[in-house]
Amino acid sequence: MCGIIGYAGEQRALPILRTGLENLEYRGYDSVGVALGGDDGLRLFKQAGRIADLALPADDDATVGVGHTRWSTHGKPTDANAHPHTDCTGDVAVVHNGIIENYDSLREELGDHAFTSETDTEVVPHLVETFRDAGHDLPEAVARTLDRLEGTFALGVVAADFDGIVAARRDNPLVVGHGETGNFIASDVTAFLEHTREVTYVEDGDVAVLSEGGVEITNDGRAVDRPRERVEWEAEAAEKSGYDHYMLKEIHEQPTALRQTLSGRIDELNGEAEIEIDLPKEYLNSLDEVTFIACGTSYHAGLYAAQLVESLADVRASAEVASEYEFDGGRDPWRTLVVPVTQSGETADTLSALRRAKRAGARSLAVTNTLGSTVTREADDTVFIRAGPEIGVAATKTFVSQVATLALLTVSVARARGTMSTTEAIEFLSNVRQLPGAVQRVLDAEAAVRDAAETYADGGAFFFIGRKLGYPVALEGALKLKEIAYVHAEGFAAGELKHGPLALVTSDSPVLAVLSQGANAHATLNNVKEVESRGAPVLGCTSVADAEKFLDRSFEVPELGALSPLVANVCFQLFAYHVAKLKGRSIDKPRNLAKSVTVE
Ligand code: F6R
Repeated sequence: MCGIIGYAGEQRALPILRTGLENLEYRGYDSVGVALGGDDGLRLFKQAGRIADLALPADDDATVGVGHTRWSTHGKPTDANAHPHTDCTGDVAVVHNGIIENYDSLREELGDHAFTSETDTEVVPHLVETFRDAGHDLPEAVARTLDRLEGTFALGVVAADFDGIVAARRDNPLVVGHGETGNFIASDVTAFLEHTREVTYVEDGDVAVLSEGGVEITNDGRAVDRPRERVEWEAEAAEKSGYDHYMLKEIHEQPTALRQTLSGRIDELNGEAEIEIDLPKEYLNSLDEVTFIACGTSYHAGLYAAQLVESLADVRASAEVASEYEFDGGRDPWRTLVVPVTQSGETADTLSALRRAKRAGARSLAVTNTLGSTVTREADDTVFIRAGPEIGVAATKTFVSQVATLALLTVSVARARGTMSTTEAIEFLSNVRQLPGAVQRVLDAEAAVRDAAETYADGGAFFFIGRKLGYPVALEGALKLKEIAYVHAEGFAAGELKHGPLALVTSDSPVLAVLSQGANAHATLNNVKEVESRGAPVLGCTSVADAEKFLDRSFEVPELGALSPLVANVCFQLFAYHVAKLKGRSIDKPRNLAKSVTVE
């Protein structure tokens, strides 16, 4: 997630910004930059890479400035794309977190302005410039700019002739710090915690003007009085926004991650998914096959997607474990679309599978969270999942964002192939659009999952079962539990139980079932009865009426058609987390595991 820090006060801004940026490093970033204000005009320092490598002056008299750590979403991690971004004159500089959805049309409208980056952010300083040229001061020019922006943002703006910072937010976190010698803005309080614990959380639509003298907040042009709060957390807890672990924070970030994933990509009116890839209609029509290649959690996302593609786009689709993948080319290799799915973009097994496919002549489309990663350089095309950096080793928010992205990809392939009507696409996309809210509802019921974890944590083994789209979710639920709780857990296609695994089922082996739409819940209920008669407690994630009467614990999952199993997965994430916590495991860094597996 990008990070913002800003300071306006009587002290020198540069050292404050530098340590602020270091404090934000934990959020993950690929580029960094600083703009310093003052009488000599703005001074800008920015580049791709680490803060330690940013060429900053040893000293600078500026008492106003903003800094930014960037995690790329639009445009590669390059020096030019690093924030802050400026207007044509270099007198206005902007740092931004979030996504400006209508940047394409704004850029077109600002046709005579000189753009120097590929970012969505750069439209902001140029819009501010137009309003300043029309005679407005900086706060008013920023307020008018905000009216033109679609999407999400937290913004910090400085200008050469303005002794302060103008900040604003919409659906992206921003906090103001009130210090003794000046005031701060930041994406989270860790950035300035050594200077002040007195904060104001800026609300959606607020515009805050910070100067040495104080902070004024307006909303819709009217002054508003936001409460001051005292932060009692220590820096380490604050990095996790008060959660005990990054994993739990990232589980709770899923609605936000999904909003970012979906932002600007759904045209519900016309039933179209607008992902930024260029796969010609003729090519999609000539497809023989789509193959997802991936490892671990990403493989489970691929399994989910393969079912969606086969059922909606009417083309043969499969997911293959990357380390096992071989591709002989077939009759016309180019007519196989190979889709490496990889959060990091650096997984060695996935990269070498991609290379094998390319050597055989297949076309490739990478799905990843990481701009500039190896997979983006080697695949023919790339689509980004935009989940923001994931710090916990166990993948959580990236799984849900991968599946959501692949669901959009499926719609775009299906529409091009004419296998999905406008009405069907509108209905499917409406479910996709509701994903963030549905996930939030499951998160709101966390207490019930925690309670179940407390009751069943000592089980000798845990079996996850599901059918159809519930099957990859069963595999993912089991993987999460084994990797962070270190307990024996297996995922099965529910119908397979009776062909062997049933022998393992006892009263000491809780069974967790996906009983939602999209997972053939009624058939799975028969398997629930099978395991119950062997004494196993059954926990079910369900969106079907009456299922709870067969269950020892039931967790409600909103009805979202083919996407309900994906939402059910959030119950499994929470279950794994709470079992691991009760067992005192090293949740964010499980033993023997690494976030990015760069060896085969
Ligand atoms: C499990 C997990 C791993 C990764 C796998 C692939 O929680 O994180 O199974 O999913 O190592 O990693 P990426 O997606 O980076 O290729």
